[in-house]
Amino acid sequence: MKLIIANWKMNPDNSLEAKELFRFFDDIESDNEVVICPPFAFLGLAPERTVLGGQNCFWKKEGSFTGEVSPLMLKDMGCRYVIIGHSERRDIFGENNEIINKKIKAVLEAGIIPILCVGEKKGDNANRVVVRQLEKGLEGIDSSNVIIAYEPVWAIGTGDFCSPEKADEIRKIIKEKVKSKILYGGSVNSKNVKSYIDKGFDGVLVGGASLKKEEFVSLVKNA
Ligand code: 13P
Repeated sequence: MKLIIANWKMNPDNSLEAKELFRFFDDIESDNEVVICPPFAFLGLAPERTVLGGQNCFWKKEGSFTGEVSPLMLKDMGCRYVIIGHSERRDIFGENNEIINKKIKAVLEAGIIPILCVGEKKGDNANRVVVRQLEKGLEGIDSSNVIIAYEPVWAIGTGDFCSPEKADEIRKIIKEKVKSKILYGGSVNSKNVKSYIDKGFDGVLVGGASLKKEEFVSLVKNA
């Protein structure tokens, strides 16, 4: 069973459309686990059998942290997974490996499965960046409880996906360091999804294509 994680990011911009996407994807028949990670505001709109994930959370259980959502709240809303350390969180919201490490610990304590995103920017040494993100992000954590998503930043939302061969090189480096399932993310679509699965990835993390009804259904079927 492969994991197909849909990261809607901050989309769609209204609840009617979110309901329509949920309803459409509710009909997907697949042996794979399809997980929808909508914005927090739409979690409560999902049909009962949708497997849900959060896109981020804070590391505290509750308290005076305006604007934040705790892992326990996500669990209470039915989330089985939560994405941690997405490159947009790192770049736009200043999350570093220490913050990410705290979040993963809190998520595990709440009984949810963290999906830790790692990946290099254009021009970076991919090997070095990814290994550092893993070592720092997973300090003091049993990696078998965490899912890793390898998302090269330059491949996110660009259509410039990472070749399966290159992605597989990094997958093997990750596999040497951790006992986790490993996903690929970055411009995954219905046409290229199978090439990552065939290389040995345990699934994919999908952005843009997860907001297009027919395209996402084909992607799940082709995985
Ligand atoms: P795209 O599939 O739009 O490239 O986004 C990837 C991503 O960031 C998923 O978390």
